[in-house]
Amino acid sequence: MKTIDELQEEVKKVLKRRRFIHSVGVRFTAQSMAMRFGVDLEKAGYAGILHDCAKNMSDAQLLMECKKNNIKCSKTEIAKPSLLHAKLGSFYAKKIYGITDEQVLSAIRWHTTGKPSMSNLEKIIYIADYIEPGRRELPHMTEIRKMAFMDLNRTMFLILDNTLSYLNELEQDRQDAIDSYTRDAYRFYKDLAQNQL
Ligand SMILES: [Fe+2]
Ligand SMILES: [Fe+2]
Repeated sequence: MKTIDELQEEVKKVLKRRRFIHSVGVRFTAQSMAMRFGVDLEKAGYAGILHDCAKNMSDAQLLMECKKNNIKCSKTEIAKPSLLHAKLGSFYAKKIYGITDEQVLSAIRWHTTGKPSMSNLEKIIYIADYIEPGRRELPHMTEIRKMAFMDLNRTMFLILDNTLSYLNELEQDRQDAIDSYTRDAYRFYKDLAQNQL
């Protein structure tokens, strides 16, 4: 099993510089959050550094790679192939980078859309991807960054709420590209947030 630092050197070779710096940002943000919430630091590091390992591809390449490796694509993914870098990333993490831990693979798998009932590691990677220090200032970023170290479920709600209101502003045909997992995740974490009040 390679160390996190060794894998970091490997993804450095395949990712564009900007994407690589983002991945390092996600690694350390995820590990900091893991300290706060009692999640395994190594798993957070592996998932963080590898989460975008399939992001260096065009839409056509993503579709082709999925086909070649028998990875099923939903209608939404065919309409918006960039979503596939999560599924394919999880596949590469196992096949190319030697990750066998199912929790790490699952955190990579769900980092783009989210889903209901995520594990703490899955939530941490999803959130770290959004808040890492290199991210440009998105709406409510200060509040979300602070909440990320207080309450994971509430942070999921804040991010999904932001993401969906942004996606809902797009024209109708692009709205069809909102993944059903994202909608389900939004409903799930919205209910949780409301039941907390
Ligand atoms: Fe990603
Ligand atoms: Fe990312």
